[in-house]
Amino acid sequence: MSRGRGYKKADPYTRRAKAQGYAARSVFKLEEIVERCGLLNPGDRVVDLGCYPGSWSRLASERIEPGALVGVDLSEPQGIPGTFIARSVYEVEPAELLDALGGPADLLMSDMAPPTTGDRKGDHLRQIALAERALWLASAVVRPGGAFIAKVFEGADAQAFFEQVRAGYATARRIKPKATRQQSVEFFVVGQGRQ
Ligand SMILES: C[S@@+](CC[C@H](N)C(=O)[O-])C[C@H]1O[C@@H](n2cnc3c(N)ncnc32)[C@H](O)[C@@H]1O
Repeated sequence: MSRGRGYKKADPYTRRAKAQGYAARSVFKLEEIVERCGLLNPGDRVVDLGCYPGSWSRLASERIEPGALVGVDLSEPQGIPGTFIARSVYEVEPAELLDALGGPADLLMSDMAPPTTGDRKGDHLRQIALAERALWLASAVVRPGGAFIAKVFEGADAQAFFEQVRAGYATARRIKPKATRQQSVEFFVVGQGRQ
């Protein structure tokens, strides 16, 4: 049977995510990052910024059991264990995250992305602003020695953001997971060993 000219076959990551019950293919980006960096261990406390539709939160909660998870997004994911805060990250204060976790975080991770407009420079700047907000929250809620992950779009301010992470963490690295689409400008900055 013809599927028509507009038909696009789901990529292997999308099919795997669906088969394993994850809400988004982006779960495999986090999986690669945490495996390469040794993150998400049993008992960890984790903040997930931009958590909708919930695949990162789900993977994290499976790995950190019996730890604690708090997610923040404008939209609410379904069926994720832990606490959910339905608000913009710009309106969330560190004390709320610490209360929800019951103590300082071992990891703050951000997969936040603004709605893209096609204006590459504007999208980059909005993305960097979200990553900087995540880094600021991490400076208040991540324990000394803890870790930070943020999505960034390539662009003029990406290196300066990387330097900010390097200044606050013993090690900083850029990771472009295999599940990131080839044409995508996104990568992740990972800081480990918060000073
Ligand atoms: C790529 S999705 C995250 C996918 C998620 N990591 C997962 O695997 O299911 C990006 C998310 O960032 C959220 N976001 C964008 N701006 C935000 C803001 N100001 N505050 C909170 N969340 C925001 C969007 O609502 C969107 O759900």
